[in-house]
Amino acid sequence: MERTLVSEAKDKTGSAALLKGWVHARRNLGKIVFFDVRDRSGLVQAVCVPKELDAASVEAMKNIRPEWVVEIEGVVQMRQEKDVNPLIPTGKIEVLAKRVAVLNEAKTPPFEIDKDTKGISEELRLKYRYLDLRSDRMQRNIRLRDRVISFFRDYMRRSGFVEIETPILMKGTPEGAREYVVPSRVYKGSFFVLPQSPQQFKQLAMVAGFERYFQIARCFRDEDQRGDRQPEFTQLDFEMSFVEREDVLLYTEEMLMALIREMFPAKHLSAAPFPRMTWHEAMERYGSDKPDLRQDKNDPHELAFAWVLDFPMFERLEDGAIQAMHHPFCSIHPDDMEKLDTDPMSVRANAYDLVLNGYELSSGSIRIHQRGLQNKIFKLLGLPDEEIKERFGHILDAFEYGAPPHGGFAPGIDRIVMLLAGEPNIREVIAFPKTSDARDLMMGAPSAISQKQLDELGIKVVGDEE
Ligand code: AMO
Repeated sequence: MERTLVSEAKDKTGSAALLKGWVHARRNLGKIVFFDVRDRSGLVQAVCVPKELDAASVEAMKNIRPEWVVEIEGVVQMRQEKDVNPLIPTGKIEVLAKRVAVLNEAKTPPFEIDKDTKGISEELRLKYRYLDLRSDRMQRNIRLRDRVISFFRDYMRRSGFVEIETPILMKGTPEGAREYVVPSRVYKGSFFVLPQSPQQFKQLAMVAGFERYFQIARCFRDEDQRGDRQPEFTQLDFEMSFVEREDVLLYTEEMLMALIREMFPAKHLSAAPFPRMTWHEAMERYGSDKPDLRQDKNDPHELAFAWVLDFPMFERLEDGAIQAMHHPFCSIHPDDMEKLDTDPMSVRANAYDLVLNGYELSSGSIRIHQRGLQNKIFKLLGLPDEEIKERFGHILDAFEYGAPPHGGFAPGIDRIVMLLAGEPNIREVIAFPKTSDARDLMMGAPSAISQKQLDELGIKVVGDEE
């Protein structure tokens, strides 16, 4: 007999059904035992009455505990009026068991899975993440994430974007935050780094003529953790050729409004079109470049998007050095080109952020596409010619082979899903996140590797105390 999904059972009153899933809860009523059986589609009640069952099934029924994996064959029947449960979609029916079998036993879980696990210590939840993920809220979050990603994929494909996978092993980038380093075995003493973002590759995809690129891109950054930061996270990374700032802003705004209209009808926008302000206005008016513009911060359905435009190109570090505020590939605001030589700190980049409810959701810019200007920016950042050539020679060369004008954006998927799911941090919407101190408690990573591996890689570990 074919398996019946829980969600299909409610349309099968009077017919046979074969449930396969986990025991969510067990209730005894004298000799009768009720099981809530859970599968990927929901929960349904199975009723086990000894006189309806064979001897092996009666034995199984007595032993089965929550989280055991079971197979229950039976007949779908309407519940009595007084037993109807309006809280679940299958609440009007139940399956009267004819055969019960255990597919696998389970130890008692370290925390209750049939309740929200929010109050359980994060150490425990992350150590047993595969159990935490069984809980209803986590299942909903991860499935919601899947639907949001699918929406973006479909939307972008429909508007002519090509999904291109870019390398995970790459050369060091200049984006400010710290890079994760991967030693090369073949070239001892040389290293790859993991991408902080696919920034250079997406620009090179524009030089390559794809015109519209996107990727659900995994990014890696070895930086201090916060509720909205993980060492690895995911961007909806995209880039477009022959566009101006307005094109990127409008495309993004329409896509996000379509997402909310189609998938989150209960949510409402504080303002549409999204309000715009310059970086200076934001800093002056709100003292922040990610202002929270919600009218009612207690309204869980309010979404306050805002554009922050014209970021400064450079910022000064404590030691006096200057660095690119966003990244060195941003083009210069057309009105400020002349100040590049005389007063670089006052120069604005053609860079923009999208803010949602006080979180930075995305950053982007119209890029430089000419070698001369890109080289000049690197020099202003204090890079010697040799270093520019060594680190960025490839992209400067590429700009000399007909690079089109281009620009793009990179909304953080984890942050969008967190805000749409109403969760307080991005760990709640990532299936297997790191802890707030950047560890994987389930696998025990990071961890030491064997001496043999270290030798092969030509690496000598120097302990902290040495
Ligand atoms: P940026 O560094 O601003 O831009 O990142 C873009 C978006 O990615 C998300 N994000 C993060 N999410 C979770 N954990 C993190 N550690 C983390 N860091 C960033 C945020 C952020 O707004 N290449 C450029 C984009 C471009 O210019 O097109 C970039 O990466 O939502």
